[in-house]
Amino acid sequence: MTPKDQAAWIPSKGAVHLQVGDAPYITPGPGQVVIKNGAVGINPFDWVLQYQGSILASHLKYPMVLGIDVAGTVLDVGPGVTRFKLGDRVAGCAVSIAKESGNAKLYTVLREYMVAPIPDHITDEQAAVLGLGIGTAAYGLFHEDYLGLDLPQVPPPPNPQPGEHIPRAIIITGGASSVGSCAIQLAVAAGYEVISTSSPRNFAFVKSLGASHVFDYNSKTLVADLVSALEGRELVGAYTVGENADEVCASVMTQRLAKAPELPTGRFIALAGGAWREPDSIRGLFGTYRLMGGMFSMMGKNAIKKLRTGIEIKFIMIAGLVDPESCVSQVYMNFLGPALAKKQFVPAPEPHVVGRGLDKINEALELNQKGVSAKKIVVSLP
Ligand SMILES: NC(=O)c1ccc[n+]([C@@H]2O[C@H](COP(=O)([O-])OP(=O)(O)OC[C@H]3O[C@@H](n4cnc5c(N)ncnc54)[C@H](OP(=O)(O)O)[C@@H]3O)[C@@H](O)[C@H]2O)c1
Repeated sequence: MTPKDQAAWIPSKGAVHLQVGDAPYITPGPGQVVIKNGAVGINPFDWVLQYQGSILASHLKYPMVLGIDVAGTVLDVGPGVTRFKLGDRVAGCAVSIAKESGNAKLYTVLREYMVAPIPDHITDEQAAVLGLGIGTAAYGLFHEDYLGLDLPQVPPPPNPQPGEHIPRAIIITGGASSVGSCAIQLAVAAGYEVISTSSPRNFAFVKSLGASHVFDYNSKTLVADLVSALEGRELVGAYTVGENADEVCASVMTQRLAKAPELPTGRFIALAGGAWREPDSIRGLFGTYRLMGGMFSMMGKNAIKKLRTGIEIKFIMIAGLVDPESCVSQVYMNFLGPALAKKQFVPAPEPHVVGRGLDKINEALELNQKGVSAKKIVVSLP
């Protein structure tokens, strides 16, 4: 019997308040699975679409269901699915299969290759923090259009690599953010030392994810501290979250190129996004602009900034996120399950559970807009 589904809908173009109501149950197509959601995570992108969807993405059709990060139990599998069976506990990334296929729903359809099994020691609420964070981190770190690093392994490969004398390192800023927490762990698992930034209250947390050094992103000595921490290492590039973090990393690279030309220094910065710092501006276009790290200005020909030093800053456009051959699907299919099972990768940051039920999603979106620190806003579902 087809389950009776419900969703928290954005009812029409320009409407902001989500309304809970009946929704079509989407039968999985070839290579797709349906998850009975146990918990869903909220990303800044969700409320950006909530407020600015009709401006940012004119193709959106209403009513629609938002949301990306899901964790729960496999309820149904489509033709050809081999990795999962009914009852498996999983987490995944729900992206644009249909306008009703977001996470704000009791049952969400996902592509098999954007799903990973979760072990018993991880709750649905913990696993619901992973979806877009993993996808965005993996895309910027491993995709050949961005940093093109080696893929993560269980266990991680040695650093330095066999036959090499100096370790490989990367700067990943915003280590306490959702994207940054995933990026640090993925880079460490791929055999790179990670130097990160956060607020001082999150230093211990960011180090627990595997960063060897963490610096205050508001420190006046940040550039010098990063340059010093990178001494004796190859710098393969930088992955940035946070306002001005790309400029900081460009300064670090410039100083190294001048002061230590004998050390290999990558000149590529993958920019995930700036951090939102202005609570009063969220409903304005400018607020959205700041949150997305200047996304509007970085679309199209402006998505890459080339500096005179040859340093390139490129905004991460996750347009190919659901490519079945992409680095993201490889992370989901080959790495995440075993890494979670062996506790080599932990779901991070911690979930802040707003409550249970689809009607809590409005509140969860509002909380995320207010800003989070080393937390992911999560809603439990029945
Ligand atoms: N390109 C894409 O497709 C894509 C996809 C997803 C997300 N994003 C963007 O990536 C960014 C991160 O997303 P998220 O969901 O991970 O955000 P999040 O978890 O809500 O980010 C909050 C964290 O950002 C940190 N932060 C704020 N300003 C910082 C700075 N200047 N330097 C370093 N850290 C800073 C804070 O650290 P402390 O608490 O330690 O102060 C806080 O923990 C956002 O701008 C988002 O829009 C882009």
